[in-house]
Amino acid sequence: MHILGIDIGGSGIKGAPVDIETGALLTERFRLPTPQPSKPGEVAEVVAELARHFGWSGPIGITFPAIVKQGVVWSAANVDSDWIGTDAASLFQRTTGCPVTVVNDADAAGIAEMTFGAGKGQRGVVMLLTFGTGIGSALFVNGHLVPNTELGHIEIRGKDAEKRASDRTRQVKDLSWEKWAERVDEYLGRLEYLFSPDLFIIGGGVSKKADRFVPLLSTRAEIVIAALLNDAGIVGAAMAAKPADE
Ligand code: BGC
Repeated sequence: MHILGIDIGGSGIKGAPVDIETGALLTERFRLPTPQPSKPGEVAEVVAELARHFGWSGPIGITFPAIVKQGVVWSAANVDSDWIGTDAASLFQRTTGCPVTVVNDADAAGIAEMTFGAGKGQRGVVMLLTFGTGIGSALFVNGHLVPNTELGHIEIRGKDAEKRASDRTRQVKDLSWEKWAERVDEYLGRLEYLFSPDLFIIGGGVSKKADRFVPLLSTRAEIVIAALLNDAGIVGAAMAAKPADE
């Protein structure tokens, strides 16, 4: 089955039709800049433009970087606060004219990695973390997702964890890889204390530079790098939109 996957990020909104049985993108990705400020109406227009680009009329799966329950956005850590309480699924459905499913961005990446990537076949407690503008989390127990875990917002040294250990913080504060790895290690240590995961999957843009920091980490659980990198959100969004009777 083919579903259009769209990944809404802080700087770009990108999409491609996905074969959800194989996880393959059917065409090249198409990307448009995220409108600034990223208010609901403006973002929905860009989503509609992507759907038009692909001449799409079937189901669409869309990621969003916040808590999403039954299509409604509940939080706005790194997006415009107008999103809080917005029924994003209905909004995108109106502008695209297609059936839409909306999921948290890290959950989407996790779904894709557990099916086609670094977490394939992994049982036990698996935690995928994306390090980017914020920190996203996706928690799996024997392959089942516990959605909207938001573990980027646990408190460390009196601060939101993602404010200390996101990749954006590394860049903005110009932290050395060693200094940043210390912060990430402290963060992972706290998560281990709380969840005792069997495996961490590290995703997000910074995972391309994994050799700079992963060797410096000291978790008990094994750490692997996400395999789908840039495509995980698109693929996972499409998978989340699979109609129930398919
Ligand atoms: C948001 C999460 C999101 C993560 C990565 C956090 O600030 O609260 O919902 O998954 O950033 O984008």
